[in-house]
Amino acid sequence: MNWDVFLAPYQQAVEEIKIKLRGVRKQYNMSSSSHTPIEFVTGRIKPISSILDKANRKNIPLEELESRMQDLAGVRVMCQFVEDIDAVVKLIRRRKDFEIIEERDYIANKKRSGYRAYHLVIKYPVQTIDGEKKILAEIQVKTLAMNFWATIEHSLLYKYSGEIPEEIIERLQSAAEAAFRLDEEMSQIRGEVLEAQAIFRKKEEEQRSH
Ligand code: GTP
Ligand code: MG
Repeated sequence: MNWDVFLAPYQQAVEEIKIKLRGVRKQYNMSSSSHTPIEFVTGRIKPISSILDKANRKNIPLEELESRMQDLAGVRVMCQFVEDIDAVVKLIRRRKDFEIIEERDYIANKKRSGYRAYHLVIKYPVQTIDGEKKILAEIQVKTLAMNFWATIEHSLLYKYSGEIPEEIIERLQSAAEAAFRLDEEMSQIRGEVLEAQAIFRKKEEEQRSH
């Protein structure tokens, strides 16, 4: 298996999707009329060691990675508010440069771990020197609070090799609860936050024109 060759189109896709979604943020920022639903975008290709672990765990032969491992290419979109997730999902659905294969709503149905996010699996066309190649990529859309929780939980999973002590699992669940309440609180004061941001922008513009 030549991993560099195999992963090249996935790396290409991640770079392209990141640029495109960051472009959406730029467009919102320029339009000054509405708040940008995208706070920031990150992306990665799955490290080879994690690919092998997951293939092993899920009994996926390496020849079937392309069709059966949906997150070799992964992009994350972070939002300030839960409402923004909906806006991001809608604008992703409207796009014509890729096809949505699957959507998983772990916000309406949070995972047992406490994990919340909205996932989309897309089929993304990469242009290669041998023609077009369509690859699968996973887009995760989440709030900053959801991302914070998932990042901490992920490092604990790593630290404890997947076997987190019961006491810490309970703490994580209560932290997930707190993150959920934080998102709710933020939504409630969203109107006021947006107003404050608009005033701040206006002041900045005034300063720039002086
Ligand atoms: P894997 O969970 O990746 O084996 O695939 P799946 O087919 O079950 O898809 P799912 O949508 O459950 O998860 C895809 C990705 O979401 C994972 O690779 C993680 O990045 C993230 N994710 C899902 N569940 C959790 C969770 O409980 N904690 C954290 N930190 N991340 C999660
Ligand atoms: Mg899973």
